[in-house]
Amino acid sequence: MQLRGERTVFTRNSKSLNNQTMQLSEGRYQIDGVDILGLVDQFNAPLYVYDAATMKRQYDRMTKAFSKVKRLRINYACKALTNVNVLRLFQQWGSGLDCVSVQEVEMGLLAGFAPHDILYTPNCVSFEEVQEAVDHGVRINIDNISILEQFGAVHPNVPVCIRINPHIMAGGNSKISVGHIDSKFGISIHQVPHVLKVVNALGLKVEGLHMHTGSDIYDSGVFLQAIEILLRAAADFPDLDYLDFGSGFKVPYKEGGIATDIEDLGEQLGARFNEFCAEYGRDLELMFEPGKFLVSEAGTFLVRTNVVKTTTASVFAGVDSGLNHLIRPMFYDAYHHIVNVSNPEGKQRIYSVVGYICETDTFGVNRQLNEVREGDILAMANAGAYSFMMASNYNSRYRPAEVLIYEGQAHLIRRRETMEDLLGTQVQVDVLKSTVPA
Ligand SMILES: Cc1ncc(COP(=O)(O)O)c(C=O)c1O
Repeated sequence: MQLRGERTVFTRNSKSLNNQTMQLSEGRYQIDGVDILGLVDQFNAPLYVYDAATMKRQYDRMTKAFSKVKRLRINYACKALTNVNVLRLFQQWGSGLDCVSVQEVEMGLLAGFAPHDILYTPNCVSFEEVQEAVDHGVRINIDNISILEQFGAVHPNVPVCIRINPHIMAGGNSKISVGHIDSKFGISIHQVPHVLKVVNALGLKVEGLHMHTGSDIYDSGVFLQAIEILLRAAADFPDLDYLDFGSGFKVPYKEGGIATDIEDLGEQLGARFNEFCAEYGRDLELMFEPGKFLVSEAGTFLVRTNVVKTTTASVFAGVDSGLNHLIRPMFYDAYHHIVNVSNPEGKQRIYSVVGYICETDTFGVNRQLNEVREGDILAMANAGAYSFMMASNYNSRYRPAEVLIYEGQAHLIRRRETMEDLLGTQVQVDVLKSTVPA
């Protein structure tokens, strides 16, 4: 079989305006026709709001971009946003599910996904957890030779997928670059000969090969380079049914920010995949597992300004949230576009938007916002992926409520936490209780 060597790839990124989820209409910000300030009146702040129409638009864009491929499967990477209602939407649209824990698998099953439509891709989990996933009947993706050996010894008849690390540096920052040589993820591409020995010795059936090189990939050409590596490896596995190229599709976070041109990528990658299938002699299924591409732009995080504080060097807008609710700016230096939705006509001034947590939890430095007054509601865009899901109870704060806008109606899909939730898993020891004054 003829495979390509190094080649120059021409795949475009596109530049795009910030997401269109929030619209300004007659002086009021809306999401799918629902008034944002009305949502705050109804559900209070801080509040996560998700727009189902934006998710569907992105899902449709992706399926259309790869429509020249005969067998396509998008597995929504549900770690990005795991609310069961969101999972149900993707299930209804025909998506599969990418899960990284057995708990995500169980949520997916609860949401109505068939076991066969779930791919479980764990990393550094115990064999007992892999066993639980097998018991659930989902597809298993293995990223470690030791687990492959244990798996083969117990389940020689259960087909597996193997996660390959192609040794490619890709991703928006080092924390989300996972396909390079120092990454803990996947089995090195150089260990494929050893994998083949294990597979042959144990009589395993390898039904899929997988890779995921990172998130927020700036250079679309990387996708095409990486797939050549996986295709080269795939030629050595005769029983394949699918190839999973992971994700990493970039969405714009700022005005004029870079986005993966999915239509262009679909054209080029789809053509190369079809060519490979012809050489392989079978129509394999092409899989992707996007998280950010599908849900990032659909999410908006609404916070209330508690204080406006002028110091010698800065003007701070201090809001009723912090790294406990949206950690991406502090963890990844992620940029989230911020809009003052309650004063759209206000004069533009410069603010640093900060949280109320007893840490330096800065959402945005020196942002130009319409004048912020105490009590104003600020909206942070691109808060659908890895936002609520990374929230915590740090400083014993409650995690916010979540609302889904579906067909122009707002639905509460998670209530705000209460003190009972904070104490619910704590066990109060009787002898210590007795020291508390009555
Ligand atoms: C194995 C795997 N697949 C898919 C994804 C989704 O990536 P993204 O949100 O960039 O689409 C991730 C993200 O970390 C991942 O680890």
